[in-house]
Amino acid sequence: MERQKTNTNIFLIGFMGAGKSTVSRALKSILGMRRIEMDRAIEEQEGISISRIFAEKGEEYFRRKETEFLCSLPAGENLVVSCGGGVPMRPANVQAMRERGAIVWLTACPETILKRVGKSHNRPLLEGHKNIDYIRKMMDERKPFYTDAADLIVSTDDRTAAQIAREITDHLQRRV
Ligand code: S3P
Repeated sequence: MERQKTNTNIFLIGFMGAGKSTVSRALKSILGMRRIEMDRAIEEQEGISISRIFAEKGEEYFRRKETEFLCSLPAGENLVVSCGGGVPMRPANVQAMRERGAIVWLTACPETILKRVGKSHNRPLLEGHKNIDYIRKMMDERKPFYTDAADLIVSTDDRTAAQIAREITDHLQRRV
């Protein structure tokens, strides 16, 4: 059964490793939404990897690119956007997302996050800090920003991407 479209863009926010990319793929296959991976889009625009942007141009430059990217998106175009984990830390980003669609916060406990990010080396902010205490501290600092931004909060611990995507679509369809 094809699910009814939500007629809104969906912005997936959450900590690194919360499952934003995986869930965006599930939403694409369930709803036929167009999927945008913000980090990949910025890498394509800049012609270098996120790690190199951080190392060569600095974090502030990357944050500006995130804001510019969000502000360039159309409203209500049936896009699912997998956002970088730091996006909700800037009020301008939250406003840009609110004006363009629904904001869904994917949560996971630090143990789950560590399992998911453990072997990757494409997240400069976690390089050399892949341990539970560091992840928990960073999550706690970010929590108020994610909480303020979110229209909907969905836990991803011990759940499949399809289950999470269904919860999101059911909720958003009830809203329209
Ligand atoms: C970041 C998260 C990363 C990427 C960059 C910074 C963050 O994206 O944007 O490394 O500040 O949390 P993912 O959340 O997709 O890993």
